[in-house]
Amino acid sequence: MQYTANTLEHHWMPFTANRDFKESPRLITKGEGVYLWDHKGNKLLDGSSGLFCSAAGHGRREIAEAVYAQLQTLDYTAPFGMGQPASFELARRIAALTPDEINHVFFVNSGSEAVDTALKISMAYHRARGEGQRTRFISRERAYHGVNIGGVSLSGMVKNRETFSGVMPNVVCMRHTWLEENAFTKGQPAHGAELAEDLQRFVDTYGGTTIAACFVEPIAGSTGALIPPKGYLERLREICDKNGILLVFDEVICGFGRLGTPFGAQAFGVDPDIMTMAKALTNGAQPMGAVAVKDEIYETVVNAAPEGAIEFFHGYTYSGHPAACAAGLATQDIYENEKLFDRAADLSDYFLDAVFALQDLEIVTDIRGLGLMAGIDVKPGRVPGLRGTEIQKRLFWNGLHIKFTGDSAIVAPPLVTERSQIDEMSAILRATLEEFRD
Ligand SMILES: Cc1ncc(COP(=O)(O)O)c(C=O)c1O
Repeated sequence: MQYTANTLEHHWMPFTANRDFKESPRLITKGEGVYLWDHKGNKLLDGSSGLFCSAAGHGRREIAEAVYAQLQTLDYTAPFGMGQPASFELARRIAALTPDEINHVFFVNSGSEAVDTALKISMAYHRARGEGQRTRFISRERAYHGVNIGGVSLSGMVKNRETFSGVMPNVVCMRHTWLEENAFTKGQPAHGAELAEDLQRFVDTYGGTTIAACFVEPIAGSTGALIPPKGYLERLREICDKNGILLVFDEVICGFGRLGTPFGAQAFGVDPDIMTMAKALTNGAQPMGAVAVKDEIYETVVNAAPEGAIEFFHGYTYSGHPAACAAGLATQDIYENEKLFDRAADLSDYFLDAVFALQDLEIVTDIRGLGLMAGIDVKPGRVPGLRGTEIQKRLFWNGLHIKFTGDSAIVAPPLVTERSQIDEMSAILRATLEEFRD
């Protein structure tokens, strides 16, 4: 196959500068362990686990074999009114990882679908308990909750919403938690717990009984890894409890060991009512997401419907797809057998030291990090975001894949990364960032 602009033209690529890409394609044709290979045979270190998916590394045979075996036995069956065993087993495995009271799992096919499903579960729950007037949702500036209409409505990133003004009404954003005085803080920053009072202000302005749920990412990932200030999530929890508001953690990036714990909830010691997850659930090997809810939410919705009736009018043709469940189960086995969440916790200091060592570079304006996740901000160029895109491309040709959003790099290596590979990553990062001077 020839990789020319002609042969690439028909695919309208997502979140991509299509014209630029097709001029100079960057195609990945192979992945193994923490490495990727492009179509020219160049080897790259994967510093962002693909897109925060490949926690156990690429090319895991156990997952491929489980999917193959599943497809040979049962490739597909309708998920409405009937089912297949693997989804029940995977739900049980997920429930064993979530906080104690969160034991019910609804399957979807992506993080975006998980977020839209969580919105609908929140509405269904309040309606079932006679509080259908709770129609308002709270989100946060700089939030990323996917690209479906619900997730875009909750989004706090301007480029993701300015074209799409006709989204859900009744969503208001709290301020984001990036503060100048926290610059270059490793772990949770000391300042900013008071930003949670924005939720209290919305309660005071709109009335707590009109608010259905407050959505936050434990760490705001896609905007550049904003770690919540100490006491911030705890205060959100308090305000939610006092006002009957559901607290939803969007764990799509933080879930499955990224922070050295199963989920962000455990890393920060705050239990939400609902959790969304995707990505590393299947190690990225099959598209899958899930929403896990507290027993009380499941029981309230289910018990409100007449006996024998469908309780929640929601679901996807591919909810709990057999191949995705097989991938999910094989992935959970790997996490458990190789103790990868503990491994991430053990590796965290070494990783963060390596990333924070870049702070002497002239172009670096802030670094944040926790677990195996870090954000690096660079000085914007002529137009915000342009330099980030340039650096991402240069890193690619220098042998490192790192996801950028605007002028922020989001570093999140696979949990199986070796120390020597972290050294390799930081050496390429340093050399590449040094190419960009003001
Ligand atoms: C916190 C969060 N929520 C939702 C999503 C959307 O997930 P997907 O791209 O699988 O739809 C993402 C993707 O990065 C995410 O980071």
